[in-house]
Amino acid sequence: MRRVALLAMLAAGAGWCARQPVRARHGMVATREAHATDIGVAVLESGGNAIDAAVAVGFALAVTHPSAGNLGGGGFLLARFADGRTVFLDFRERAPAKASHDMYLGPDGKVTKDSVLGYRASGVPGTVRGLEMAHRKYGRKKWAELVDPAVQLADGGFPVSYGQARSLRSKDTNERLSQFPESKRIFLHDGRYYEAGDRLVQPELGRVLARIRDRGAKDFYEGETAQLLAADMKEHGGLITLDDLKNYRAIERQPLTGSYRGYAIVTAPPPSSGGVGILQMLGVLEGSGYEKSGFGSAATVHYMAETMRRYFADRSEYMGDPDFYHVPAAGLLSPRYIAGLRSTIDPEHATASASIHPGKPETHESSETTHYSIVDAEGNAVAVTYTLNNSYGSAVTATKLGFLLNNEMDDFAAKPGEPNLFDLVQGEANAIQARKTPLSSMTPTIVLRDGKLYLVVGSPGGPTIINTVLGVLVNVIDFGMNVADAVDAPRLHHQWMPDVLRVERGFSPDTVALLKARGHTIEFENAQGEVAAILAHDGWLEGSADPRTEGTAKGY
Ligand code: GLY
Repeated sequence: MRRVALLAMLAAGAGWCARQPVRARHGMVATREAHATDIGVAVLESGGNAIDAAVAVGFALAVTHPSAGNLGGGGFLLARFADGRTVFLDFRERAPAKASHDMYLGPDGKVTKDSVLGYRASGVPGTVRGLEMAHRKYGRKKWAELVDPAVQLADGGFPVSYGQARSLRSKDTNERLSQFPESKRIFLHDGRYYEAGDRLVQPELGRVLARIRDRGAKDFYEGETAQLLAADMKEHGGLITLDDLKNYRAIERQPLTGSYRGYAIVTAPPPSSGGVGILQMLGVLEGSGYEKSGFGSAATVHYMAETMRRYFADRSEYMGDPDFYHVPAAGLLSPRYIAGLRSTIDPEHATASASIHPGKPETHESSETTHYSIVDAEGNAVAVTYTLNNSYGSAVTATKLGFLLNNEMDDFAAKPGEPNLFDLVQGEANAIQARKTPLSSMTPTIVLRDGKLYLVVGSPGGPTIINTVLGVLVNVIDFGMNVADAVDAPRLHHQWMPDVLRVERGFSPDTVALLKARGHTIEFENAQGEVAAILAHDGWLEGSADPRTEGTAKGY
């Protein structure tokens, strides 16, 4: 029987078996940065639940992973509790009250750089409220105990890793951060730069975190921190006011659910475009037989790319903040609509994106980010993706506060129909409006098998997030890979416009040649995404951080 299963796996292309995941019996934490992982495990070992660990990790990453970990950004938390309840917390940034449809258009009607760089690029940050809400509703340990490790890391410092030192020296980061004195002083060491092993000490950030520890999220939204932030914004032409901060609310939403080959998929609802994307694309793949030619074959990559191309065309038209725009999620996921999409895929030839338009679903209803996954001893699972948007966000470090601000306003369509930072074309559904939430691609996702926790997964990477998560899901479910191999395997991305299939270099040159022969324009990507995944299997938790990064998985 086992031999038959193995042969079936090999026939489906699951020859990939190169790395073992980290295994543990009780709890597991997978994050982008080792100090944060260790803090999460310590919380679990000392009796905290997965939500407690997620709060502590969120604050720790704000210190140790400044390109994406944050107080000045926002994100999503998806949890599935051992008793079967699921919850999705939306603590994404919201547009300030003064934001308006054309705020990033110059006198010539062209999009300015203001949505990407500087004080005007920021939406109202949500991370501190989101973590507070998670703790208040679902946490077990004392708040101060969860924030304190981050205070210690900020005050005492930590050794900069090789990857961080390289990231802070990179041309783009250097050009952006050096335009803002606080960013230059803190993160570029005033132009002297950090070497691997140097200590990064952040006393201003430590003081902000200590106030959050002692006075709660209220300090960030109404207290001393809020006042300093609002004053800094005013002085530099930013839009965020004290009222914006006071009025910020995290939102608890129903997770989006679906199924794939008998597995239940629990994922991110709008304002994420990721969950709808994952469920539509899995729907197109299921029953197509695309997997028969095996992982990495040109036929499989082609079919997946065609599936991605079609979803991203729909995304451009139909996805936006559901509190402002009626997202037709059910229509985009209806079996009839999905069958219609499948019928337009030619297994031998690429369809030019110019000839694909957003479909007509039946009814209208409803680079740098970071993801971490946690499972505790009771079987509670948490998937958090949070972000400043671009690496190091807007490049602005708030004066006297020591934390970077997001440039999430660029996730709106600054000019509907024109590409944004990620070359994404988006429509009026995602146009700027006061207090609206910009559309996201963040896709924290949890998979159940026979009603039990199976897989927790997510990734950063702007629009590539959706396709990265899709890839890990099918690598596990369709190609029988262990979770480490599923994370390691080469990735692909198609987002309709531009009409380019991006592939990591791990695909064989023969596959690439065959994809070109089918009509794809290929671009090579060095590394797509930074997955943190945990698989629950045979009484074990198997964790994998992405080998493309310095992330770690650790259990106990
Ligand atoms: N800021 C990237 C995203 O939310 O998709």
